[in-house]
Amino acid sequence: MAAAQKVQEVREVTRIERIGAHSHIRGLGLDDALEARQVSQGMVGQTAARRAAGVILEMIKEGKIAGRAILIAGQPGTGKTAIAMGMAQALGQDTPFTAMAGSEIFSLEMGKTEALTQAFRKSIGVRIKEETEIIEGEVVEIQIDRPATGTGAKVGKLTLKTTEMETIYDLGQKMIESLTKEKVQAGDIITIDKATGKITRLGRSFTRARDYDAMGPQTKFVQCPEGELQKRKEVVHTVTLHEIDVINSRTQGFLALFSGDTGEIKTEVREQINAKVAEWREEGKAEIVPGVLFIDEVHMLDIECFSFLNRALESDMAPVLIMATNRGITRIRGTNYMSPHGIPIDLLDRLLIISTSPYEEKEIKQILKIRCEEEDVEMTEDALTVLTRIGMETSLRYSIQIITAAALVSRKRKGTEVSVDDIKRVYSLFMDESRSTQFLKEYQQEFMFNELGVDTEQMETS
Ligand SMILES: Nc1ncnc2c1ncn2[C@@H]1O[C@H](COP(=O)(O)OP(=O)(O)OP(=O)(O)O)[C@@H](O)[C@H]1O
Ligand SMILES: [Mg+2]
Repeated sequence: MAAAQKVQEVREVTRIERIGAHSHIRGLGLDDALEARQVSQGMVGQTAARRAAGVILEMIKEGKIAGRAILIAGQPGTGKTAIAMGMAQALGQDTPFTAMAGSEIFSLEMGKTEALTQAFRKSIGVRIKEETEIIEGEVVEIQIDRPATGTGAKVGKLTLKTTEMETIYDLGQKMIESLTKEKVQAGDIITIDKATGKITRLGRSFTRARDYDAMGPQTKFVQCPEGELQKRKEVVHTVTLHEIDVINSRTQGFLALFSGDTGEIKTEVREQINAKVAEWREEGKAEIVPGVLFIDEVHMLDIECFSFLNRALESDMAPVLIMATNRGITRIRGTNYMSPHGIPIDLLDRLLIISTSPYEEKEIKQILKIRCEEEDVEMTEDALTVLTRIGMETSLRYSIQIITAAALVSRKRKGTEVSVDDIKRVYSLFMDESRSTQFLKEYQQEFMFNELGVDTEQMETS
């Protein structure tokens, strides 16, 4: 399963921390009884919805439910996406969570149902158990011979022991390099993976504890291993079905079928993988970990996508589907029918719906305060109060945006804290939605493509 390892490495590299719209969210902020704390883990208020999300989360963690679907519905800026992100955080590393926006489906270089299938399979984890052979022991001696000519490969010997035995191993160039890289020395307890040759330093042997002073406080002491030097050890990796699909369609020479990055994956490949995974499950080598697929702005999907979802949810390897929308009764894309949230009735019927409601002033203030901390912005109490008022009158999003701009203005005037004046200045520089609409109503003739009426004919000819 070298492939699984590779995938994990890639994941680690791509996790770069930036300040995004939801980077202050670290979980759902629930207590042990799943009650939402007023302010916790970056979450504020919206307690009923958070609690509901927590109940769903418990069901997911138990791993028993598959193919459930949840809809988070509410007005813009009421924390729907934030709650989904909180769920992702609370799930932890081992449960797959895939997030996408409904509109993404149409911008990919592949069919809509293929894109959805990939999203579904990215959300199903396969926990694979493997036995590997390792050598584990205390280093007695490392002896490296430099070639007499000064060039060419180094060779050497490594003496390892347990409480019961001692063995000398020959070292090749590669092993010598990894020993040097890990700074292994006599008295260290190490493991060597026999398949990959990977060396891991577990710590210093207790017998060397007297040299403590020479090693500094970070040194970890461990017991000298007992028994045989060679051992079998069980290791567990979690990969997603999609990762297995991609890896296998490449190695089997399906490369020609690819367009773009992963491209479309053949149904046959998926069927083979499904059969293989089923086999592993029967042999007790693998377990399915149903994860979460989150589709934001779900009203952007069309009728074909919805009917795909209906069917896909019925598979026993379906993840939990969470959707979010801010639409009321609207047209289902691809049809002329109206429906609540733009979702067909037959799908709606399968959903558990969580609704979010607008925030009160003190909640907005608290969210803004958390955002200031997240962005490392100092703000006077007065400025925060003014910003909260702006948030109440325009939108939470608009007031969150102002924080960044106002901090910049304050820094330009060499201020240490964002003041009321900085806020006012930014408020006059950037319009919010309602002022912008007002402005457009007044000056619409001067813009292209105005829909409000008057001079359409004139526009077309000009
Ligand atoms: N309860 C909350 N606690 C902390 N931050 C929140 C909360 N609700 C919203 N936010 C933050 O406010 C901003 C807007 O919220 P969010 O994007 O979640 O709204 P939404 O309901 O998804 O809106 P839309 O319908 O427009 O997609 C985000 O930066 C979000 O992290
Ligand atoms: Mg959203």
